[in-house]
Amino acid sequence: MSTVQQKVISVISTKGGVGKSTIVTNIATEAVAAGRNVIIVNSDTQKSVVYWNAFRNSNPALTQIPVYQWKPENGDLNKGIHQLPSGWDLAVIDVCGTDNRALRSAMLAADLIVVPTTPSGADFHVLRNETIPVLEEMHKATKATSSGVIVINMWHWSHRLHRSVTEAMNTMIKADYKICETRLRRLAVFQDAITSGMGVGEYAPKSEAARNVTALYTELMELIK
Ligand SMILES: Nc1ncnc2c1ncn2[C@@H]1O[C@H](COP(=O)(O)OP(=O)(O)OP(=O)(O)O)[C@@H](O)[C@H]1O
Ligand SMILES: [Mg+2]
Repeated sequence: MSTVQQKVISVISTKGGVGKSTIVTNIATEAVAAGRNVIIVNSDTQKSVVYWNAFRNSNPALTQIPVYQWKPENGDLNKGIHQLPSGWDLAVIDVCGTDNRALRSAMLAADLIVVPTTPSGADFHVLRNETIPVLEEMHKATKATSSGVIVINMWHWSHRLHRSVTEAMNTMIKADYKICETRLRRLAVFQDAITSGMGVGEYAPKSEAARNVTALYTELMELIK
């Protein structure tokens, strides 16, 4: 009998377009490469991961990853997680970028809440003023191992972080939000891998993007074990 415990990672933000689905598909493929049985759960009506998975399913050389479409009639994710087909040891949940019941129930279902942001001042503003307050409101009720870890996505070495962004980062660190050491660089390969239904580690194994994802996966697994 397997001794691997079931774990749930929810990738959430109340901001759209910060890289939630990109992180979901890349954590999922990295976990599959590491030998885990992964299920992706999608509750976003835009269905980015369903689209990605349709490409994946058309390539028999790839290990298939079930994507479970979570509909409103399934109820709250935290209460209904047993509805998922059995056999998984890691569920990675993708939600839409708005504060709604699906996002909050994904937070409650999570062992680890991953919150992507870009280094943009506008995205940090939403993170600090909208997403973090929701996390704080929910924190007492979650089973998560931490209040949420922040992943900086679409990083570029030329970024000069405005004082407001560094101040926001420092405030979060003081409030015990871990900001992952790994930053995902803004790289075209993240976009190109999508229409092959791949993670960047499969699409371009020697790329910087692949190294970023491996480092991020390792960091996240340390937090969840
Ligand atoms: N590190 C990156 N480098 C380059 N492009 C990226 C990176 N991360 C994400 N993208 C691109 O940015 C866009 C938004 O990413 P993604 O769809 O993952 O965000 P999201 O938070 O899931 O958005 P939504 O809220 O609409 O669901 C996509 O076109 C994606 O390919
Ligand atoms: Mg998305």
